[in-house]
Amino acid sequence: MRALTYDGPFRVKVRKKPDPRIEHPQDGIVRVTAAGICGSDLHLLHGLVPDTRIGQTFGHEIVGVVEELGPEATGLSVGDRVMLPFPIFCGSCFYCQRGLTSSCENTNPATDATSGVYGYGHLTGGYDGGQAEYVRAPFIAVDAEKIPDDLDDLTALPLTDALATGYFGAEMCNLKGGETVVVFGAGPVGLFAMRSLWLMGAGRVVAVDHVDYRLEFARRWAGVETLNFADADIITTIKGMTDDRGADASIDAVGLEAAGSGAHRATGILGKLEAGSPVAFNWCVHGTRKGGTISVVGVYGPPYAAFDFGTAMNKQQTIRTGQCPVKRYMPHLLEHIRAGRIDPKPVFTHRLPLDDAPAGYRTFAQKRDGCIKVALFPDGRTVH
Ligand SMILES: NC(=O)c1ccc[n+]([C@@H]2O[C@H](COP(=O)([O-])OP(=O)(O)OC[C@H]3O[C@@H](n4cnc5c(N)ncnc54)[C@H](O)[C@@H]3O)[C@@H](O)[C@H]2O)c1
Ligand SMILES: [Zn+2]
Ligand SMILES: [Zn+2]
Repeated sequence: MRALTYDGPFRVKVRKKPDPRIEHPQDGIVRVTAAGICGSDLHLLHGLVPDTRIGQTFGHEIVGVVEELGPEATGLSVGDRVMLPFPIFCGSCFYCQRGLTSSCENTNPATDATSGVYGYGHLTGGYDGGQAEYVRAPFIAVDAEKIPDDLDDLTALPLTDALATGYFGAEMCNLKGGETVVVFGAGPVGLFAMRSLWLMGAGRVVAVDHVDYRLEFARRWAGVETLNFADADIITTIKGMTDDRGADASIDAVGLEAAGSGAHRATGILGKLEAGSPVAFNWCVHGTRKGGTISVVGVYGPPYAAFDFGTAMNKQQTIRTGQCPVKRYMPHLLEHIRAGRIDPKPVFTHRLPLDDAPAGYRTFAQKRDGCIKVALFPDGRTVH
């Protein structure tokens, strides 16, 4: 089959690879009809995720058609259209029993890491991802969600990650109604968080980024106020908008590749002396009021320097975080989509055949050409 493969930092290629096959009785094989590129894939591309091996296929946002099923994968049929949550989970371990599917210890026994994840390096199990013609889906009958007939691929695709994660990020703000929330990062995850915050009763939502076309998209598509952090000191501006206290809650939808601090970029991303830059998290701490909540869905690697934890402690803030347990949110988000409260499709500004994936990665990474999010079509279709 053809598959996107990692060739070392900043290099990906589409090449031939053996077709995946059933390895365990509960596996399935999915013919991928559409796969997304996520901000998390950029951390892999940039060599920031430990133990990312040459030759791995990325892609953890996957929709497709069941092609083959192992003898114990019951409840699904060959030919079913399915979406695969990015955390691979077993449904029966200690964590899965508690609904913490993104902590599954069967698909990734490492006690200090998340569950198995499609195409996310060997720290999360080394599973190949779905930016390919086919993907092996472990525990498919437990993990996969059937796509209702009236839902097209591109509407279903964000449910596998970006939409579920944005919703999860908003939910962790624990809103009661009327609150002011600042969302750092106007990428797909931040944008879905903004839409979700409105559904949860937020009174005011402010997006922060430094990419103007993304802020414009946020104003238009998510109906939020926006701030460009390149224009003025961001914390002074946020405090000026909130009686000098800071927002009631904030969401870090940026993670370890944050811009905005030259010192952290130098020691972290360039010098590799810390795992990226904690500037977005620190802005959440400073831009949120005492007693407020910080929701972190932006991804961070394990070793860290200069997190401003002391300020968060002294401000009595609640910090909530995690990789999204996607499966839990799928039924509820399907209802929101059906009711017309969220239409996720417009975030796919770029719809490309799989063969153009390397160019798609570049455009998305460099925030060019109005790119919000990229969808890849392994069968070469581009118009959806
Ligand atoms: N927790 C989870 O389950 C989960 C799931 C999906 C993605 N993620 C993570 O969420 C983050 C966002 O993903 P995405 O797909 O939206 O990525 P993205 O790269 O499209 O968006 C990130 C945005 O943050 C902006 N940004 C950079 N520095 C900033 C700063 N200091 N303040 C405010 N904005 C800043 C960038 O300009 C960009 O628009 C990534 O870290 C990704 O790994 C987490
Ligand atoms: Zn992702
Ligand atoms: Zn499990």
